[in-house]
Amino acid sequence: MNLKGRNFLKLLDYTPEEINYLIDLSAELKAKKKNGILMTKELEGKNIALIFEKTSTRTRCSFEVAAHDLGMQVTYLDPSASQIGRKESIADTARVLGRMFDGIEYRGYGQEIVEELAKHAGVPVWNGLTNEFHPTQMIADMLTIREHKGDLEGKKLVYFGDARYNMGNSLMVTCAKLGMNYTACTNRAYFPDKELVKTCKTIAEETGSVIELTEDVKTAAADADVLYTDVWVSMGEPESVWKERIDAFLPYQVNKEVLDQASKDCVFMHCLPAFHDLKTAIGRDVYEKFGLKELEVTDEVFEGPRSIVFDEAENRMHSIKAIMYATLK
Ligand code: CP
Ligand code: NVA
Repeated sequence: MNLKGRNFLKLLDYTPEEINYLIDLSAELKAKKKNGILMTKELEGKNIALIFEKTSTRTRCSFEVAAHDLGMQVTYLDPSASQIGRKESIADTARVLGRMFDGIEYRGYGQEIVEELAKHAGVPVWNGLTNEFHPTQMIADMLTIREHKGDLEGKKLVYFGDARYNMGNSLMVTCAKLGMNYTACTNRAYFPDKELVKTCKTIAEETGSVIELTEDVKTAAADADVLYTDVWVSMGEPESVWKERIDAFLPYQVNKEVLDQASKDCVFMHCLPAFHDLKTAIGRDVYEKFGLKELEVTDEVFEGPRSIVFDEAENRMHSIKAIMYATLK
């Protein structure tokens, strides 16, 4: 498998074999790190740029730690620290950064921006999250599911909440590619884009995956292997949408009742950050306005024995390391 020089923009661009290769490589690099095997000579002397037009804890730290583990230097551009888009076009920025760096991570708004960046950069571009997709999260998630459930093929993943945004879209694509069954369980106003569903169903025909959309929690949760949710309001969306999201998604909160309807050894996943208590400023603000102490997931489920969210978060680093290694080495 040779992925050198490739961009990593969305999993629609990758074959099932390539995706599985990246999951395998993540596991291998994770084992190396756990065994104290240093890899700092591997990409020594290379430089990468991290562009974040939205905030981040996991993705930024994963890129930085992974880069350092591989011997690379990192330049971080925060949402206010560059000229991108405001004073300088994406194409010009790409051509400048492509002359200085060996790879570029981009987190921002529309998918077309990261695609444009990749078109002009001349070095690998990695999508660190757009409104439409979050592909680095997918390699981590699949590694985590594999660690807990063995094989991926034939497993049923149910996604609750905003199924038309980056996490829902990415999970649907990934499940289709890897022969997993994907159910989006949510208010129909938040079903994924019809064209993307069509594309995924076509892929699913080849891989044996089943893609379903439903408003019914009971049928969705029945024999689910993975229950997955994400925040109800994503980065960059206005505060004013909280009320309509709470109205739409409260019936799709992942709580004990939902967990009890799933298969006995099902796991709970969340890309994080999550609103499961009142220990965040936004969580408290929503509580004051709407009286809800927990949002997309209850504290009981989040902190409970089925929750694998911190394994999942750790795997962000190992999988981002694998993605950079595969595309740069
Ligand atoms: N899951 C995830 O992408 O987290 P950050 O927003 O903290 O990077
Ligand atoms: N849907 C979330 C994912 C965060 C990792 C967001 O875009 O804010």
